[in-house]
Parts: sequence; structure tokens; C-alpha cells
Amino acid sequence: MAKNVLVTGGSGRLGNYVCSHLKKEGCNVSSFDAAPPPPESDNVKEGIPFVQGDLLDLGDCLRAIAFAQPDVIVHLAAITGPTELLSPYGEKAALAKSPFRYTQRRPEDDCMKINTMGTFYVLDAARRMNIKDVIISSSYYATGIGGRWSGTTYTPQYLPVDEEHPCDPESTYALSKYLDEEIGKAFARAYGMKIIALRYMGVFYENNEGSRKLYKFGVNVEPADDKNKGLMVDNTYQYVDARDIANITELCIQKIRDSALKPFEAFFVSTDTTYLEDTEEVITKRWPFIKDLGKNMKGTEGIFSIAKAEKLLGYKPAYSWRNN
Ligand SMILES: NC(=O)c1ccc[n+]([C@@H]2O[C@H](COP(=O)([O-])OP(=O)(O)OC[C@H]3O[C@@H](n4cnc5c(N)ncnc54)[C@H](O)[C@@H]3O)[C@@H](O)[C@H]2O)c1
Repeated sequence: MAKNVLVTGGSGRLGNYVCSHLKKEGCNVSSFDAAPPPPESDNVKEGIPFVQGDLLDLGDCLRAIAFAQPDVIVHLAAITGPTELLSPYGEKAALAKSPFRYTQRRPEDDCMKINTMGTFYVLDAARRMNIKDVIISSSYYATGIGGRWSGTTYTPQYLPVDEEHPCDPESTYALSKYLDEEIGKAFARAYGMKIIALRYMGVFYENNEGSRKLYKFGVNVEPADDKNKGLMVDNTYQYVDARDIANITELCIQKIRDSALKPFEAFFVSTDTTYLEDTEEVITKRWPFIKDLGKNMKGTEGIFSIAKAEKLLGYKPAYSWRNN
């Protein structure tokens, strides 16, 4: 797969997986980020060329594209941790505990600005330089399940939730990812670009102690009690292994020009669920208000379906805890 690829956010957590994976697969990879890669990262070990710059500066985006001469841009850079997602006054504590060097906690308006305008500038620079293919990072939060500040539950209209399901985001981060997708759709319509939005579930990093503590595999899901009343607000007990994200990114690069793909496509990306019981039982126990919808679920499949990625991209998660 000899392609030139520019990865924005290459110094971040996922960037470190995606850049080195694509390089191993034969791509000429360059990284564009506000921060240099950590000295111990694979990007440094493998000598991935790095352009330092700000997403919010069109000139920096153009400079990165001029340097990388990409066939495809993989846009990962974003603010993933707006302070709004932390408990009040919890920012310092959360930062101290963060196992990741470049996870940035920034105010909500920075998150909105960098995520939405950053995506706009990357796509605007791409179309000015006649780069037609871009893969952008979205999130399952775009659906509205994450950061429900209203205190109301996310209520799926049907299960499993697929990419056609309506979105009703509330938090800044969720809204920024939803708007990123809308920006992507507009560029695909206006400039004949092909744009794929990958809606990752929470990411698991196998080589990171903090990540291993966060994700519990093989669990029996706790039944809803009076305290949580079975609200569906964030955790669907699904995760995606960073190595599967690297794999699906490679598949997107290979398939982005397939006629089966519309100019803009969104895909949920998950590796597996974390629980032992069948999904129907988990729903009945944990989210009784949608137990009737759960009757459609098969085995331990997730609330968010990856059937579209399996069908159109040939995605097959390779790193499930169930097989390892
Ligand atoms: N990690 C997850 O659980 C998860 C889940 C769903 C979606 N995502 C999405 O995946 C993408 C990558 O996430 P990650 O976990 O690697 O995040 P990360 O915070 O580890 O990395 C993001 C990178 O973006 C860079 N960046 C931020 N602002 C920038 C700017 N203005 N100009 C240039 N670079 C800038 C940062 O320096 C950092 O290196 C993001 O778009 C994120 O929203 C992540």
C-alpha cells in the first residue's frame, strides 16, 4: 500500500499507533501536531517525519500538506478532554492521574474551537491543495450518549444503534464531534471529496497500565439500582483496541475510493463488549426501560453496531479479550 499519508495529531495516543502501523504497511507517513512526539514513542523510534503547527492556522495546515504531499489525510488531532467533562474543580487531580502524556484538558470553548474549526481548516487546506480523501476521527459520543448534562437518559429508538440513528448531542465534546461530521458532509458535497468519519468507542491501549486498570473485561454487569435508575448516559460496555483503530484506518485508506462508499460515510468502530452475559440479559438488567428493544440483539453484540464497517470495509476486530 504505497501511499503518502498525513496524520494530524500524530503525537497523541492514537497517533502513535496509527502512524507506525501505516508505516509498517508501506505508507510514507508524516505527522502534524502542536506538540512533538514523546521521545520514547514509536513515532520517534521509527523516524516519522513531523511538522509542528496549529490546526487553527490555515497556513500551518497548508505547510503540513505541502510537506507530506498526501494522497490521504487521517485527521486525529482534537481536544478530547474539555474541563466540562471533569467534576467541578477536579482538573488538577485528573491531570495528575492521567497516564497519558499528551492528553490535554482544555476549557470547553477551546475544545469546540479546535475540534470544529480545526476540522474545517484541515478540510479547507486539503481542498485548496486538491487532496480529495480524508478520514476524520469522530466518537460514539456524537450520537448523544456521552456527556448528558440534562441528566436525562440517552434513549435509543432501536437496537442495535447503527449509523442512521438520529443524534442528539449535549456536551461540548459530543457536539464538536457531531459538527465535525456535518463539516465533513458539506466538504464532500461541495468539493467532490470522499470523507470517512470513524466513530470510535472508548479506546483501550494494551501497553498502558492506566488503560488496563480502566477497562475491566469479563464482567457481570451490575443491575440498575435506585441511584442510577438504569440511565444510559455513557458506558455501553464496549471498547475499541487502539490496534483495531490502526487496522480500520488502513482499510479506510484502501477502500475510500470504492464505489460502494458514498462521498461521506460514518462508521462505528468497536472491538468487543466487556461482559460475560448475553446482551439481551445485560439490557434487561441494566437498562430495563429499553428491554423490549433488546430482543433484537444477538449473543454478546454491542449496543452500537459495527455491521456497516464489517460489510463495507471488511473490518474484523482482531484484538478482543475473548480470544486472547
Ligand atoms: N481516546 C479515545 O478514547 C477516543 C474515543 C473516541 C474518539 N477519539 C478521537 O480520536 C482522536 C485522537 O484521540 P487521542 O486519544 O489520540 O487524543 P490525544 O489527546 O492523545 O491526541 C490528540 C493530539 O492532537 C494534538 N492537538 C490538539 N490540539 C491541536 C492543535 N490545535 N493543533 C495541532 N495539534 C493539536 C495534541 O497535541 C495531541 O497530540 C481525537 O479526535 C479524539 O476525539 C478518541
